[in-house]
Amino acid sequence: MASEKKLVVVGLLVFAFFSQGEGIIGGREAAPHSRPYMASIQVAEGDRMKHECGGFVVADQWVMTAVHCLPTGANGRKVVLGVHSLSQDEDTKQTFDIMELHNHPQFDSSNYDNDISLIKLDRLFNASDAVKAVAFLRAGGANPDTDAAVDTAGWGSLDNLGSRPDKLKELVVEVEDPVLCRRSDYFGRKFTANMICAHKVCEDPCDKPHKKEDTCDGDSGGPLLYNGVAVGITSNGGKKCGQLKKPGIYTVISHYTQWIDGVMGLQSDP
Ligand SMILES: *[C@@H]1O[C@H](CO)[C@@H](O)[C@H](O)[C@H]1NC(C)=O
Repeated sequence: MASEKKLVVVGLLVFAFFSQGEGIIGGREAAPHSRPYMASIQVAEGDRMKHECGGFVVADQWVMTAVHCLPTGANGRKVVLGVHSLSQDEDTKQTFDIMELHNHPQFDSSNYDNDISLIKLDRLFNASDAVKAVAFLRAGGANPDTDAAVDTAGWGSLDNLGSRPDKLKELVVEVEDPVLCRRSDYFGRKFTANMICAHKVCEDPCDKPHKKEDTCDGDSGGPLLYNGVAVGITSNGGKKCGQLKKPGIYTVISHYTQWIDGVMGLQSDP
């Protein structure tokens, strides 16, 4: 076990040495507030708050995210909307306590099946150009097919050693064939029908044929968008990000319409 850990550390150092650390693992900085639904879920670290996971605003008082971001409860975490730079004072920022946390009851921590969670904020947000809800795909809507271009955003790690960007990054990825992701050399049976897997090999023109762009640690909970509609939630992937046979995994939102309506409806109309 110890030698295995040592190997992993050496592997990470080698990876870090060769990776340029330019993105969400690839990708680019988003135009400020061009994705006004983005939420930063933050946890106290000492006397400051630290970004931990993404999320996205889906209704007046509701943010969607991943269960694995808050598996044991809110524990004092806060949700910040209207963020572009995590560190700077931006007058667009609105900070909330978590009034209710609804983790999907069938979340499976062994394979991250049903990795969908809803947060009820402690109060309504003030809608602005920097803060507004995004539409999410409902049952019967068209999910992206294999090879479709989808996009995602986050403040997640730039590399596998965990260095984090200050400003929101975005990335276009392509939906991978689910048959491939179910193969044993990819995710095998851990890949369920509630998941989309996606990655992008490289930019066109292809100057880095072996470099994978991917969502990574800290991007979790953020949205996967198809034509501007949230279709997925950044969930899981390889233990390391940007690996060839471990594309990013996203929860299929349209499979949870009934649960979402139940949670959000119940609260507004008890
Ligand atoms: C919304 O704006 C009002 C008036 O400026 C302010 O009192 C309130 O705190 C704001 N709400 C949030 C969530 O920031």
